[in-house]
Amino acid sequence: MSEKTQRAVFATRIGAVATTVGSAVGLGNIWRFPYEAGTHGGGAFMLFYILFIFILGVPVLCAEYMLGRGTRKNVFGAYRVTQPKGSQWHLAGVTGILASILILSFYSVVAGWTVEYFFGSVSGALTNNPSQDLHERFAEFSGGTWRPLIWTWVFLLTNFVVLLRGVTKGIEKVSNFLTPMLFVLLVIFCINSLTMSGAKEGLEFLFRPDFSKIDSKVLLAAMGQAFFSLSLGLGCMLTYGSYFSPRTRVVRTAVTTAGLDTLVAILSGVIIFPAVFTFGMSPSAGPTLVFEVLPSIFNNLALGRVWSSLFFFLLILASLTSTISMSEISIAFFVEQLNMKRTTATIVNTSIAFVLGSLCALSFGPLSDFTIFGMTVFNLFDYVSSNILLPFGGLVVSFFVGWKINSKFIENELTNHGQDSCHVKGALTICLRYVAPIGISLIFLNTLGII
Ligand code: TRP
Repeated sequence: MSEKTQRAVFATRIGAVATTVGSAVGLGNIWRFPYEAGTHGGGAFMLFYILFIFILGVPVLCAEYMLGRGTRKNVFGAYRVTQPKGSQWHLAGVTGILASILILSFYSVVAGWTVEYFFGSVSGALTNNPSQDLHERFAEFSGGTWRPLIWTWVFLLTNFVVLLRGVTKGIEKVSNFLTPMLFVLLVIFCINSLTMSGAKEGLEFLFRPDFSKIDSKVLLAAMGQAFFSLSLGLGCMLTYGSYFSPRTRVVRTAVTTAGLDTLVAILSGVIIFPAVFTFGMSPSAGPTLVFEVLPSIFNNLALGRVWSSLFFFLLILASLTSTISMSEISIAFFVEQLNMKRTTATIVNTSIAFVLGSLCALSFGPLSDFTIFGMTVFNLFDYVSSNILLPFGGLVVSFFVGWKINSKFIENELTNHGQDSCHVKGALTICLRYVAPIGISLIFLNTLGII
């Protein structure tokens, strides 16, 4: 059997979009976006986040898709077969693989919180007592030992089981029906938030940039969030691109993915911030923000328990399609480069995340005093991977595809070997050669205080 026929291909073209949207849409939009926006001044962050999605995110997304689909390999292998002889670009693939496991570790903790809140909603414990202090409640739960640990493990095991079922079957089936449902629910909650007394204040916070708040931290955070939300920089979208069919339109798929992903983040912001101001909370509460604000929304909603259960259930599934995509990066590498069996590869991936994830789960409680560079393990993993490793990976992939790869390869990927037309090749090339590498470098240098 040739190598091409051995690899899985997404069954339908809609499947390809649904799956990459499934990867992109997750806790990054619903949990991370509001907390990052909240701690970085709202509107100022939002402005740069949107800008970075389109000038950096979409081009890098195209680059990853092209490199994946054109080589039909994992991130390490894709660099290896396209790089000029003797160069070492595939080492960027290794960084991606390591970083993907770091992200999986802390992501599973937050997904675990979602599982706790789902069961709390179903049992009524979360919504039955509207007068409870939600800040206290969350601090007590996340600061404990066993519950955060067990939910992290439960989530990782679920991820493990879905992964063992393979690419096209397991993943495509779940994501095809799930993302649209989550979307409908978000629109309903959005309308609800817009009727709150703090709606005006919330929307102003999110959409009116206060230019005095713009500094290097805001720029770095907005760039990190753009990459995180689009699952970029580690080879995740590259790996998914390698499962695309030869007919999938690269640019169109990238724009659709980025557009839908951004829409979900904005919806999430429009749900959260009006509620923050209505209930007198602080927008800059950090990683715990959403878990304190959402229950107060549900408490004030007719049939709150039903909405809340449904929402947390869909959020668990959305997180699962994202963790599946992260895990796929290292699994494809272990299987294709190290010749492991898929089952062994999945066990290795899950075991590492089990250990690191447990450390992250404990960093709100027993390990909260254990800090490195002044950050807990959880915050360190989140900061280093999102703000440094992802943009760095994006810098490498854009530079590589822009400068190092044969231009015929790009032409073939953009036009599906001449079958389709592509009018944006020039603009895309400019973004990949200049805008993305220079933009990302400038933000790094700015953060380091060099410029
Ligand atoms: N984009 C996902 C989210 O918003 C998270 C994610 C999935 C991710 N795969 C990734 C982030 C790869 C970085 C790299 O929830």
